[in-house]
Amino acid sequence: MVTDLSTSKLPKLIQGGMGIAISGWKLARAVASRGQMGVVSGTAIDRVVACRLQEGDQDGTIRQAAAAFPDGALATRVLERWFKPEGLERPGAYKPVPLFSVSPPKPLLELATFASFCEVWLAKRNVRGPVGINLLEKIQAPTLPILYGALLAGVDTVLMGAGIPREIPGLIDQLCAHEPCALKLNVENGDDVEIPFDPSLVEGALPVLKRPQFLAIVSSHVLAISLSRSGGVDGFIVEGPIAGGHNAAPRGWKVESGDTPRYGPKDEINLERIKSLGLPFWLAGGQDAPHSIAEAEALGAQGVQVGTAFAFCSESGMEPSLRHRAIAYALAEDLQTKTEGRGSPTGYPFKTLNLSGTEGGRAPEDRERQSCNHGYLRSAYRKADGSIGWRCAAEPEADYLRKGGKLADCVGRRCLCNGLLATAGFPHAMKGGGIEYPLVTSGIMRDLHRFLKGKSDYDASDVLDELGIEAEFPTREAAFVH
Ligand SMILES: Cc1cc2nc3c(=O)[nH]c(=O)nc-3n(C[C@H](O)[C@H](O)[C@H](O)COP(=O)(O)O)c2cc1C
Repeated sequence: MVTDLSTSKLPKLIQGGMGIAISGWKLARAVASRGQMGVVSGTAIDRVVACRLQEGDQDGTIRQAAAAFPDGALATRVLERWFKPEGLERPGAYKPVPLFSVSPPKPLLELATFASFCEVWLAKRNVRGPVGINLLEKIQAPTLPILYGALLAGVDTVLMGAGIPREIPGLIDQLCAHEPCALKLNVENGDDVEIPFDPSLVEGALPVLKRPQFLAIVSSHVLAISLSRSGGVDGFIVEGPIAGGHNAAPRGWKVESGDTPRYGPKDEINLERIKSLGLPFWLAGGQDAPHSIAEAEALGAQGVQVGTAFAFCSESGMEPSLRHRAIAYALAEDLQTKTEGRGSPTGYPFKTLNLSGTEGGRAPEDRERQSCNHGYLRSAYRKADGSIGWRCAAEPEADYLRKGGKLADCVGRRCLCNGLLATAGFPHAMKGGGIEYPLVTSGIMRDLHRFLKGKSDYDASDVLDELGIEAEFPTREAAFVH
């Protein structure tokens, strides 16, 4: 079933989903309170909420959201497992969260469902604008419980990129009907398998769920055309190669051809072809100027999606001292964004910021590899005995080779899970001592003076003002969570 978008007011601006926890509920809520679309990141939200709870849920917001979760007993179990009123014993000493697999343990499914519910519920609380959740197609194992939690909280839009999300619209329909369903898991050297999910995990009086819009994030008109033929897609985010986070690889580019992907005329997206599909679309990548929305509209787009400008504003989930340092270096023009061809274990080009004291400021080899402790970017492979195993090209080479991986795949890989969690203020302890360095992904941090206007910091409203978004205010009750 496709949502009829002709009757609903579409936003001109979508605040891009930014993982891990950079676009958390605070940022999404700030944008939605101005009537535009705020998007929370669903990536590793289970881990993020487990960390926040272990740090004592200092602002009490997770416990507020827990009280609204439809299954009180499940919410209580999650809090009993993860909430530590006294906080962490020492920096980085988080209790490990189990890794996702084909049949994840029930407590992990409960945590993931609960966590995405909380994130969306908090973002949506008393605001007028729509709230979406962003997920990466490439990360498959946690997708269904995270989607279901978001649906239970009434998420308005699901946005998905980093892959070809053909199956997702049908799965959203099944989850909206609280039906058991299964997601196909790609297995690197064998036949794909299914990861089942049964929504009856959540008991009690369940709400009737409305079907959210589904927006696919694409970097080519060919993919947009193909997805529109598969059905269930309500629109597109059309993302160019300068956007922060992961990018699509240039056409014909192979990772062996060099670390820095170069984009050329073959990578240009034919917007006329996308327009001819008759679905709304938003342009992403360097679209944060006062004229960006008007220019996008002139090209037939509904508006724009913006990430980087929001990633460094005060409501961002980026650890504050890191964020302030990045702003200061950017103002001093001493900061560069690099597109790393080999950095991400996903195999997609990934943008990193060369900020000192972060992974992007040093070579990938400078971090001692550790056995994978979050597992979000692991790939499934078929073992000799026929069972499914998991490997990540950023884990210790010996482990990866033992699992049948190739040494060449390990070169230049960074541990994104740990680096990005550290960027969000959740650095985990390393085995040999010390804590993980942050890894900052970003698009081009252009002329921050536009948002700062002489101040030392800026917030989401400054970005919205710069983009010419009219002021809309949250209801009075909305002040309760600040
Ligand atoms: C810090 C950061 C993290 C991002 N993470 C994701 C992500 O998890 N999923 C995704 O689809 N896009 C991600 N993006 C891309 C944004 O959603 C958005 O499309 C992009 O930032 C727009 O380009 P801009 O950065 O030039 O504004 C990320 C961008 C940034 C800056």
